[in-house]
Amino acid sequence: MDVVGVGALNLDLITGASALNGTPVLARLAGHMRLRPPPVSGGERMVDEAAVRAGLEWLRTEGVPLTPEPGGSAFNTLHALARLGRGLRLGYVSVAGRSPLGTDDPFSVLDGLGIDRRLVAPDPARLCGICLSVYDDGERTLLTHTGANTGIAGHVRERFDEIAGYLAAARVVHVTSFLDPDGGAALHRLLAEVRRRSARTLISFDPGHAWSAEPTPDVLAMAALSDYLLVNGREFAQLGRSRTRRDGAAVVKYPDRVEVHRPGTVERYAHRPLPDSQVEDATGAGDVFAAGLLAALVADRAQLGAGVRLGSALAGHKLRHVGARGHGGFRAIAADFLRPPSPAR
Ligand SMILES: Nc1ncnc2c1ncn2[C@@H]1O[C@H](COP(=O)(O)OP(=O)(O)O)[C@@H](O)[C@H]1O
Ligand SMILES: [Mg+2]
Repeated sequence: MDVVGVGALNLDLITGASALNGTPVLARLAGHMRLRPPPVSGGERMVDEAAVRAGLEWLRTEGVPLTPEPGGSAFNTLHALARLGRGLRLGYVSVAGRSPLGTDDPFSVLDGLGIDRRLVAPDPARLCGICLSVYDDGERTLLTHTGANTGIAGHVRERFDEIAGYLAAARVVHVTSFLDPDGGAALHRLLAEVRRRSARTLISFDPGHAWSAEPTPDVLAMAALSDYLLVNGREFAQLGRSRTRRDGAAVVKYPDRVEVHRPGTVERYAHRPLPDSQVEDATGAGDVFAAGLLAALVADRAQLGAGVRLGSALAGHKLRHVGARGHGGFRAIAADFLRPPSPAR
């Protein structure tokens, strides 16, 4: 495989209205989901299955439009990689539950994108991860249900040797967080084994908001095993400007630039920031950036600088479209930044 993602599999449900008859959707939704205290606008809140079901039922009866998008940070990156038209061999490691909508089941989504899912374990007893994204006052509030993703530690334990072998044979492994208490320890053990088996496999690690805000020793150890630590400015500060592997780099994203930090040096890549008025949907922009970076790292002549520029161009394009609606434009953007894929693929 060229790139294998390890991370949650979610269904992102984006509400298409922020107010109903003058009342904010978020406040009423939180009431129907029995969330107390009510969620803070712009924050993220974990919710259980009963709350998700109650919330979806209320949104349905009120006729609030919902855009379903398969999601999960690493999944978003693999999704974007599949849409670059580079003929990359892609795989995913995760646990997949059922969709609450009866559509968009995770296996058919992966199959549709040509992403190998031999090591995605089915969990028919649970809902898939759900990320309900509600716009309120210009901010998005995330109501997250971990669902089947809770099973990742068990999945990694049960098929440890097979998963480690699959990852060690990949050129790049891209790892993102699992919000389950055992997820960090399981992934740390797994990455250490991948490192032991293959010094050449590049490990890219995006710990995201939750793991950066409260980094456990496992999270810091994973950063230290990584070749690329992908974070935004706030996460970089929270992680204490955490160290990567020797020769590794922290790739730090800001609205107007990306900085590549190595011991003793910082390279800066400026880009034109989009004004807020042009940002349609910021969910997963960082994941799309990662796709550009990784595509350049597995290209014929690996180039970090080209990857940062491609990643920023893709992220800027993504910000101007809701969900994956702009992904059809990725192929042309990639063709501008990278040489054509070799015909052998
Ligand atoms: N206003 C903006 N204009 C252009 N690019 C932006 C802007 N704000 C953020 N970005 C880019 O979007 C991406 C956001 O990444 P990140 O902070 O990890 O977001 P998330 O994890 O929510 O997807 C980065 O690549 C960043 O450079
Ligand atoms: Mg991010």
